[in-house]
Amino acid sequence: KILILDFGSQVTQLIARRVREAHVFCELHSFDMPIEEIRAFAPTGIILSGGPNSVYESDYQADPALFELGVPVLGICYGMQWMAQALDGKVEMGHVREFGFAEVGTVASRLFDGIVDRQGDNGEHLIEVWMSHGDKVTKLPEGFHVIGSNDACPVAAMADEKRHFYGVQWHPEVTHTKQGRAMLNRFVLEICGAQPSWTMPNYIDEAIAKIREQVGDEEVILGLSGGVDSSVAAALIHRAIGDQLTCVFVDHGLLRLNEGKMVMEMFADNLGVKVVHVDASAEFMGKLAGETDPEKKRKIIGAEFVEVFQAESKKLTNAKWLAQGTIYPDVIESAGAKTKKAHSIKSHHNVGGLPETLNLKLLEPLRELFKDEVRELGVALGLPHSMVYRHPFPGPGLGVRILGEVKHEYAELLRRADAIFIEELRATRDEKGVSWYDKTSQAFAVFLPVKSVGVMGDGRTYDYVVALRAVITSDFMTAHWAELPYSLLGRVSNRIINEVRGINRVVYDVSGKPPATIEWE
Ligand code: XMP
Repeated sequence: KILILDFGSQVTQLIARRVREAHVFCELHSFDMPIEEIRAFAPTGIILSGGPNSVYESDYQADPALFELGVPVLGICYGMQWMAQALDGKVEMGHVREFGFAEVGTVASRLFDGIVDRQGDNGEHLIEVWMSHGDKVTKLPEGFHVIGSNDACPVAAMADEKRHFYGVQWHPEVTHTKQGRAMLNRFVLEICGAQPSWTMPNYIDEAIAKIREQVGDEEVILGLSGGVDSSVAAALIHRAIGDQLTCVFVDHGLLRLNEGKMVMEMFADNLGVKVVHVDASAEFMGKLAGETDPEKKRKIIGAEFVEVFQAESKKLTNAKWLAQGTIYPDVIESAGAKTKKAHSIKSHHNVGGLPETLNLKLLEPLRELFKDEVRELGVALGLPHSMVYRHPFPGPGLGVRILGEVKHEYAELLRRADAIFIEELRATRDEKGVSWYDKTSQAFAVFLPVKSVGVMGDGRTYDYVVALRAVITSDFMTAHWAELPYSLLGRVSNRIINEVRGINRVVYDVSGKPPATIEWE
């Protein structure tokens, strides 16, 4: 297994993704992981990530004792500079910042074996890479030689092949570096000799054994939301311990159309999972009555959720475990608060944040998985593709998509409009057979509690407005609005206005994030 030390780059997670894609298990830890812990982790190799700082004036310093563990080390960008500095080389501020594509000439090295994009005029090997740095290595540490360079960056890559230490100034983890994946594969599989044994079937067996061992004959409860993570966790745990698992599905009245029915069918009927379906919509609506402030609405929904879940779980007196669909990015995010400044714009409520007062032990079988691995696992466990590849849905549900005061009547209208939008998105196909639903990262309708005038048949209408929102994003931190075809928007608009009495106008949201957010509240 590979250890990745994070020096705070925006793309460190991609390194972990690439290593996992090579079927090698890896974990990402903060740069200041104590050397005893590194030793205990027993990595077959270490990758040092990039970072936004300058090594000569930063307190982002790892413990140089890691160079004495006798395992290969690959430094990327800041990671290479830190390696150079820690091993008595020198790093200085460059005259120009290098950002973007660059071509680098390489010499023979185990890292680049078989990797070449183009032959130069004199037969030299050239590779196309993605650079992003201001500082550069100006003196090599002892034992190192240059294995990649160009005019702007004389030490673009360096190696001490004897000790298996490598440094690259560019980012092999981003797809802009044409053969970046091949470079990482060479490091992980050839240089470190890691076994490519991290596969989904292996993982399922391991995970099931681990759950059984952890839980023994005790009982487990899980808050099932219908989202991907809790669903996959439920399917996995059920596979491991069957009826020792009870799922609690809380319907707060702010779910999508037929969501409750779908969850019950999929889990209770098809998989035979014990699911308690709690219809708490009246309680939620009661608590929300009169409230228009977005933050307060979120807090109310979050608190009420905890209340309802707690009441239900108290009924299950034998339960000793609380299972959650925590996934690896959640773990990294909370652990990496030091290297990443967490921006909290909205108070997010997740089924996750249940209180410790439940006095239950935590079972988090997806803690090691990235989102796409969770999806792969879901499919392998027999969950339908359409559920495993669904768009994310916020914990407070339609509560943040009904602007201002939440009313049952509004929720009913919004549910139907939203279902039409999603149905039409799913029904499209491009030349490759991909639907607009799959091309967008998130799409939904928003209810605007304002009335406008319309005309239908011979009559005048005075009804509500629905806004459609569809975005494309890879991380949900920034997003582009999706350029949906006019014909599709027209069809959705027609259907909503014709089929949902009470709505007579549909608009499309063309705001990016930033400055807008994805949700409207
Ligand atoms: P924003 O609106 O902040 O949303 O651009 C970014 C992503 O987060 C989702 N979101 C939430 N998810 N609980 C959640 O579980 C929440 O309270 C919540 N608020 C927003 C949103 O749907 C989008 O995917």
